[in-house]
Amino acid sequence: MDGRHTALGNIPHMTDGDIETLLAALTRETRRVERVDLSFGAVWIKRYGTERPPVWTKAQTGLASLFGLPFLRPSPALDSKGMTAREIRRIETFAAHGIPVPQVLYASGNALVLSDVAPTVTARLDALRDTDPAAHDALLVRCAADLGALHAKGLCHGRPHPRDFFVAGDGIGFMDFEEEPEAAMPLADAQARDLWLLFLQLTDRARLGEATARQAYGAWRAAAPPETEAALATMIRFLAKFLSPTRLIGRVHMGSDLRRFLAATGYLSEVLLAPRAADASKAGKDD
Ligand SMILES: Nc1ncnc2c1ncn2[C@@H]1O[C@H](COP(=O)(O)OP(=O)(O)O)[C@@H](O)[C@H]1O
Ligand SMILES: [Mg+2]
Repeated sequence: MDGRHTALGNIPHMTDGDIETLLAALTRETRRVERVDLSFGAVWIKRYGTERPPVWTKAQTGLASLFGLPFLRPSPALDSKGMTAREIRRIETFAAHGIPVPQVLYASGNALVLSDVAPTVTARLDALRDTDPAAHDALLVRCAADLGALHAKGLCHGRPHPRDFFVAGDGIGFMDFEEEPEAAMPLADAQARDLWLLFLQLTDRARLGEATARQAYGAWRAAAPPETEAALATMIRFLAKFLSPTRLIGRVHMGSDLRRFLAATGYLSEVLLAPRAADASKAGKDD
């Protein structure tokens, strides 16, 4: 690999052995995402065809129309060929905007072979967690900043999670583009959803508590479009109604999903819904 992560760029030279290994792995059809070691390094095979459970999709669509909330609408469902095509198209779009993404080395009907972009941000965070909390949280802030930069370019990740981010030089690269929420809702809503999804992870992982959440939010906000922050406020106003019942349930059993929901939605509602914070946000973007 040449260290750059542009899509459909130079394909590394494959030996006969590599082709044999890759073909064997492609036809084995075991795991959905699989790392395969070849002579020049690793590649990743990603297979499509295991669609989202339709029950959840239907429930999500129902909820979205019931509450008139676009951010609950699921991405349009596609068959495995459609999923593959969507991921390739999105990788190309992100690459065209100068965002680091894995390179597509090979595409068949329902599988992709991607260049190795390891280490993921999750792997970096795990390594830094106990050894360097400041660097750990700085990486989280960087994720929020780069998500904001991506939003400023009119893009949306769809399912931002540190395991689908990678370290690319000083910045963050992105992978896993199966979702396309902006096809089902206005872009500002889709980007607002992105920020909330990132904060589910970020507030829970931060070693330095609210200071990190504040820096991360500030970094995202400095780059992201103002209409996305307005869409986020609407979304958080709705989600905040679930804070009290969720806290009650949490007293009986605090699972990790509940904990993340409370931390992220709690923090964002303080920032976006508290009157004092609203005044501060009107004052300028430099807080
Ligand atoms: N090109 C790649 N380079 C490095 N790691 C990868 C690559 N593709 C996938 N992975 C790893 O596999 C995981 C799952 O792949 P992903 O594309 O996110 O599929 P899924 O839809 O199952 O989440 C990623 O979170 C990442 O850890
Ligand atoms: Mg993923």
